[in-house]
Amino acid sequence: MVKIAPSLLAADSACLGKAVSDLEASGADFIHFDVMDGHFVPNITFGPKILQELKKYTSLPFDVHLMVTNPDECIAWYADAGADLITFHLEASDNPQHTLQLIKKHQLKSGITLKPSSDIKQIIPFIDYVDLVLVMGVQPGFGGQKFYPDTPDRIKQTKDIIAHRPVLLEVDGGVNFQNVSLCVNAGADILVAGTAVFQNGALSENIKALKGKFL
Ligand code: DX5
Ligand code: ZN
Repeated sequence: MVKIAPSLLAADSACLGKAVSDLEASGADFIHFDVMDGHFVPNITFGPKILQELKKYTSLPFDVHLMVTNPDECIAWYADAGADLITFHLEASDNPQHTLQLIKKHQLKSGITLKPSSDIKQIIPFIDYVDLVLVMGVQPGFGGQKFYPDTPDRIKQTKDIIAHRPVLLEVDGGVNFQNVSLCVNAGADILVAGTAVFQNGALSENIKALKGKFL
């Protein structure tokens, strides 16, 4: 069963508590937090205090996507704030094995990801140590961007690399009603969607429509 992880980046930032409660009520499976530091990407978003305070508005797992230049330093902050899964960019870590050990030390699920321009083969040394690989459909930094056409190929390539391992494949960025089946058929287990889930404020209908594409 494919799962939906709405990106809170697309929510009304003035009403995040209501947004996460509504997402849970609308059938979301995770809350996806796009953490951006203004250095790794030209945008700044959620600090750990926001996650800590949102914990009381939902029981959904917190799926934290670190788009930061210092993932090692951020792990404890977001683990203590209530993260359940932490994914970091291989481009931002000079010792990904160490970063993975830090995540495991906090008894959290771990994920790795790459910018769309990075060679997917870079994940190979780490696939026996992670719980998830996140395939980006857009350049990290902003919601509402266009889905890169080579994303299904990158999903398939990732699926082949992690084959027969207990590693989930998550797709993030530009996922919508037109390309969701492409993503799932290529091997996606979890879909991150911001714009598609929040459009017209019809959370429940949009999540149902995304899930309905491959039920
Ligand atoms: C981009 C983020 C994505 C993005 C998804 O850096 O990682 O999660 O917010 O939002 P949409 O679905 O609007 O592309
Ligand atoms: Zn993301």
